[in-house]
Amino acid sequence: KKISIIGVPSDYGQQRRGVDMGPSAMRYAGAIERLEKLGYDVIDEGDISVHRTKRNKQYDGKLLNLEEVLEVSERLAKKVDEVIKQDRFPVILGGDHSISIGSIAGIRKHYQNLGIIWFDAHTDINTPETTPSGNIHGMPLAVNLGLGDHRLISIAGNAPKLKFENIVFIGARSIDEGEKALIKEKNIKIFTMHEIDRMGMSKVIEETVEYLKARHVDGVHMSIDLDALDPIFTPGVGTPVPGGITYRESHLAMEMLEEAKMITSCEFVEVNPILDERNKTANTAVALMGSLLGEKLV
Ligand code: ARG
Ligand code: MN
Ligand code: MN
Ligand code: MN
Repeated sequence: KKISIIGVPSDYGQQRRGVDMGPSAMRYAGAIERLEKLGYDVIDEGDISVHRTKRNKQYDGKLLNLEEVLEVSERLAKKVDEVIKQDRFPVILGGDHSISIGSIAGIRKHYQNLGIIWFDAHTDINTPETTPSGNIHGMPLAVNLGLGDHRLISIAGNAPKLKFENIVFIGARSIDEGEKALIKEKNIKIFTMHEIDRMGMSKVIEETVEYLKARHVDGVHMSIDLDALDPIFTPGVGTPVPGGITYRESHLAMEMLEEAKMITSCEFVEVNPILDERNKTANTAVALMGSLLGEKLV
């Protein structure tokens, strides 16, 4: 397998500074070397250019930093499309979770029935009507489902990019009222922390894999917001929520997904080195990357 690393140093999807340094922190934590050691042909494609312009200060009913998010999303979608055309596996480093708008838009050009596994404390399925914050990092799934701002939903082609029945949430424990209503209405597959506690991560991943296979997906994008893990293990995130996935559960999940040979692209987002403790969160992200891509103890 040939891997391309794409950095997306954008913090425009939310209001805490520093998450734009996530790609550097994960490179510093040894992302490239770790994957090379597994025998892959790895190219570091560098970072998508993100212009430093003025930021919106307060939510006044309009999506925050919409123009900047649009620009980054277009560029990222184009880059991801190019990488997949060259038959390379994209490993995308965020940046806040708004970058998924661009990554999924680019990936989707190559898969007609794309599946999504979304590890997150949140469900990021807010629309401009339901958002409590105006932060676009709370909206990427809604956008890719064709809900929300018309310019966002038409990035790299027509909406919708995703089907409700092809998404699996894992690790959620902070869901807004409007999100809850949509998840229920559309019957979206979700394993909250409650199900992880009751069933164990092993069963959760088994059921996730079976579920997506039954939907006949032709590719699966694994998106992990590092706030899916408990803040004990990943303190360097902008929106930490207690009671998360443990270090061991997260590794088991990655290893089982590797065994399932189902993942066709992945991304690691919301690593904020400014809020971190000695790069702990980036180190955890890179360790998970190793497990997802086949690292074994013996
Ligand atoms: N649901 C909240 C919002 O819409 C928080 C979203 C947090 N998202 C994230 N990618 N960390 O603002
Ligand atoms: Mn193609
Ligand atoms: Mn989150
Ligand atoms: Mn998220």
